[in-house]
Amino acid sequence: MSDLATELSAACAAAFEAEGFETRWGAVRRSDRPELADFQCNGCMGAAKSQGLNPRELAAKVAERISGQGPIERVDVAGPGFLNIRVSGEALSKQAEFIRADEKAGGGRLEQTEKVVIDFGGPNVAKPMHVGHLRSAVIGDTLVRLFSFLGDDVTGDAHLGDWGLQMGHLITELFAEQPDLVYFDPDFSGPYPDEPPVTIDDLGRLYPQASAKAKEDPQRNEASQLAVAEMQSGHPGYRALLKHFIDVSVEALKVDYSFLGVEFDLWKGESDVDGLIPGMVEDLKDKKLARMDDGAWIIDIARDGDKKEMPPFMLINSRGGTGYHSTDLATIVDRMDEIGPDRILYVVDQRQALHFEQVFRAADLAGLISEDRLEHIGFGTVNGTDGKPFKTREGGVLRLSDLNRMALEEAEKKIGEAGLSGDISDAERGNIAKLVARAALRFADLQNVRTTNYVFDLERFTSFEGKTGPYMLYAAVRIKSLLRRAKEAGNAPGPVSIERDTERALVLAMDGFAGALAHAHAKRQPHVLCEHVYSLAQAFSALYADAPIANADDEAVRASRLGLCEAVLKQLEAGLGILGIEAPERM
Ligand code: ARG
Repeated sequence: MSDLATELSAACAAAFEAEGFETRWGAVRRSDRPELADFQCNGCMGAAKSQGLNPRELAAKVAERISGQGPIERVDVAGPGFLNIRVSGEALSKQAEFIRADEKAGGGRLEQTEKVVIDFGGPNVAKPMHVGHLRSAVIGDTLVRLFSFLGDDVTGDAHLGDWGLQMGHLITELFAEQPDLVYFDPDFSGPYPDEPPVTIDDLGRLYPQASAKAKEDPQRNEASQLAVAEMQSGHPGYRALLKHFIDVSVEALKVDYSFLGVEFDLWKGESDVDGLIPGMVEDLKDKKLARMDDGAWIIDIARDGDKKEMPPFMLINSRGGTGYHSTDLATIVDRMDEIGPDRILYVVDQRQALHFEQVFRAADLAGLISEDRLEHIGFGTVNGTDGKPFKTREGGVLRLSDLNRMALEEAEKKIGEAGLSGDISDAERGNIAKLVARAALRFADLQNVRTTNYVFDLERFTSFEGKTGPYMLYAAVRIKSLLRRAKEAGNAPGPVSIERDTERALVLAMDGFAGALAHAHAKRQPHVLCEHVYSLAQAFSALYADAPIANADDEAVRASRLGLCEAVLKQLEAGLGILGIEAPERM
């Protein structure tokens, strides 16, 4: 069974075909004027024009053909030739029952599924994560969930940044503090200790220290560059340090990510593909794609007709080092070998668009994967109220861990104001605050068109009113507690029978789920799903305000409305689950 819009489109398409027109004219969608109709088909005007006919006459013929079919209760021809369709209460009841029983809550499945790698998060070892990394994590994790829900075979990879200058800074700064560590002893022959020589706090201190010094002193910067080059060419002590730095960072990163409900299948990093680079470079030389230029190995990727300047792809720099280009290209080699995806998505700040364009062209030239199967899923920046990229009051980037803590504090405050029911233990209260904070941060981010910038405003994000995560939780919790109380009172949900306008509107809202998911998937735009869950919550509130549910006098009506609530809750939780938002049992 599919959604009503699809079913109606099929009926209209068949009618158009029978009248000698292309089926595409039969597309049906939810009505812009819900007070006049449930659905509308606007194809008659275009179709009639294509054959020089009168659109209203054609509309009357199509109406005649579809009238009384399947879910259709009534069809009216309006204006210049619109078809206004009303579906029957019976069809809506059936649809609600389907959603209630369906394991996907009416969300459907893609006709053609793919094997997809989603590269997101992209945190850097030692460098603190900032709000841009929040966006990548939340959008990427949501796309992983969305694609998997619809049947794609997805692998999410964190792609740690662990190969750049920051590693050199860490090494040199650690040397300055503790020169006697075995990692710096050229005569040491291993094995190196298992215990890391640093904690996450050390890393958080060493990196800014070193990078500040390097800004002042070119020689200091040179030393870090030399250290990275040595690390890259296999210096055993530095390699051992690299592994420690990665392990210590990943452990801390996992804490921040799990607060946000973000999960990765793979925690690979740039350094993991180091071993693949020499073979890759040889291959590119053999294919005559790589050429020597001023001591560096590059690939020309510019094309005739390029509108903007397209700098060459840097395989190996003149110091013999490899960087962001090479690790990304070698990562594609690795992914094609290990996973063999049909497609790779990169959820990374819009400002890296040129980098990805370069990588995609190089991968295509190298014959690794065709360019149209590599997608840069860019996003805008998170701004402060001044319209500039968000900074802390001290002027620095806001660390993800601080952000999480601030959101948690704000959630605790809001919960206090809302006054949770009295018998909630401290542990449960703490858990609720976490779920509220997570919902607030995720929904605030995901509800925006991905590519736009948005203003960071914790006060608003954590509000229980308006288009916010906490409002969504509130809607789900209200249904949960309603169903729980009904059960305690011995009132069981029963067969759904749709009668009232607010019930009709609620089922029509639910009917949009599959369409919203398909659209969000096709455009890689989570906000489409946010719109859907939000309008579902609103349609539920409208019924709640309009009619008694658990207290309806008539037993059959009561059972039907409780059954309807079950369907709504199921779909709401499925939708929120894809957004990575989990509702508590009560709050
Ligand atoms: N570590 C990078 C950064 O912080 C993001 C990595 C994105 N993914 C990639 N495959 N390049 O900017």
